[in-house]
Amino acid sequence: MRLDRFLSNLPRFSRKDVRLALLAGRVSVDGQTLKDPLHEVREFSQIMVDNEILQTGKPARYFMLHKPPGCVSATTDPQHPTVLDLLQEPDKHELHIAGRLDFNTSGLMLITNDGQWSRRLTQPTTKLPKVYHVETEQEIGEHYLEKFTEGFYFAFEELTTLPAQLTILDSHHARLSIVEGRYHQVKRMFGFFDNKVLRLHRESMGPLVLDPALEPGQYRPLTPEEIHRI
Ligand code: URA
Repeated sequence: MRLDRFLSNLPRFSRKDVRLALLAGRVSVDGQTLKDPLHEVREFSQIMVDNEILQTGKPARYFMLHKPPGCVSATTDPQHPTVLDLLQEPDKHELHIAGRLDFNTSGLMLITNDGQWSRRLTQPTTKLPKVYHVETEQEIGEHYLEKFTEGFYFAFEELTTLPAQLTILDSHHARLSIVEGRYHQVKRMFGFFDNKVLRLHRESMGPLVLDPALEPGQYRPLTPEEIHRI
């Protein structure tokens, strides 16, 4: 929301009061004096006029979890444990998952209460590569490479997947980088060759890489530097 709108929504400030307070340098956001009425403020911003706090600004929270197989990427589930059950944090209902994984997929999962940040990470237009380690039932052939680059037609969505980068590691293992996040995307890509994915593990999302110190089920807060990479 715009700073001037935030202030003029408060009963005590008329639009004129807001303009004057801004011009006089009486308004600060996160400790910085601001005069720009169009400055965007959020629920995480601390907003002050003179020395009075008008909004404390709730903390933005960001976590990296090593999702184990066998848990659901949802906030609640009637049958199975969820990724949120693995977090010992207050107010978990305020958190959401940035980029789900299937029940049996493991690896990097990002969890936050910052919707703008998670949208930047997951929206298709940013085209952030998601890198997966894949183990398959059948051999992975050299002829796969061209098809992954060319794209797979997904009839349900009526689209062809964007070029993906497949690196064959050995007969049954590959590393795959995709920039989309379609439903069961990796499994459907290998399914084209009737090759079942036995294990799937997400190693990274854009510039964020799963911390090797995290065992399956463990998590840690992101560092300020990691948060700013997105
Ligand atoms: N593609 C899949 O098929 N499953 C996942 O969990 C992620 C990508």
